[in-house]
Amino acid sequence: MRIERASEMGFCFGVRRSVKLVAEALQRYGGLDSLGPTVHNQEVVSAFTRQGMRVVENLNQVRSKVIAIPAHGAGREVIEEAQKRGLEVIDTTCPMVRRVQTTAAEMSEREFLVVIFGESNHTEVKGILGWVGERGIATMDSAAVLNLFRNTCAEELPSRLGILSQTTQNRSQFAHFVSQIIEALLPNLRELQVINTICDATWKRQQSALEIARRVDMMLVIGGRNSANTRRLAEICTAAGVETHHIEVASEIEDSWLRRETTGITAGASTPDYVIEEVIASLREKAQDI
Ligand code: F3S
Repeated sequence: MRIERASEMGFCFGVRRSVKLVAEALQRYGGLDSLGPTVHNQEVVSAFTRQGMRVVENLNQVRSKVIAIPAHGAGREVIEEAQKRGLEVIDTTCPMVRRVQTTAAEMSEREFLVVIFGESNHTEVKGILGWVGERGIATMDSAAVLNLFRNTCAEELPSRLGILSQTTQNRSQFAHFVSQIIEALLPNLRELQVINTICDATWKRQQSALEIARRVDMMLVIGGRNSANTRRLAEICTAAGVETHHIEVASEIEDSWLRRETTGITAGASTPDYVIEEVIASLREKAQDI
């Protein structure tokens, strides 16, 4: 079996930074609580848990004096509340996510209705909405935005609309979403602002996965199943028409996959290098025995 690696894969700069900040804080304080997983990768979270990190869902569950905000960020009020409670806040929000949060907050202050193109139940998206107050919605379906306008009486219709994206979305899907909204709503709007907030690291990983997906027999996409950017890589490879498997660890490799001549490897932005290397080594070893 010939193995081709995507030229861009694995830890992005935001994840590296977040992991480094949490590791340093664990050394300094000996333990801390994290408001959700540091990054969407179970291997990384388990390693930190062994060193004294507890994952909590909200501030009421916090027992430590130190709270880490994960790379995906959190709502502004949550961070302010943590500070009010006298907690030491280790804010590891990725700078690219912070840019979306502050842009959304500015739009909201200027009375824009802020539409986030993203998964409404994803931590990052919930966090961004936490910076816009009442003036924000998150959806991946342009019909939801159009319905909102249809079902709102004329006096209450927003005249300014801002559109941003979850950082890990797909650029062409975002463009399609925006074009549908422009076509239907532009005549009714005084102002429309669209900012492409999909991060470069995401885009580069998607492009290099697609490049190899077009010439291999099978793609393995490595990363957490709860990782939005990893799922997006798997969707992109599947849409390219190649057999694609999303796995978290090497032990998930199935024997029936080993007969492919060429296998492409890519990995989400929160997948550690050693997990990628374990998958490649296991694939080589198992394919030799076939
Ligand atoms: Fe940040 Fe982009 Fe990575 S938003 S965490 S650099 S995937």
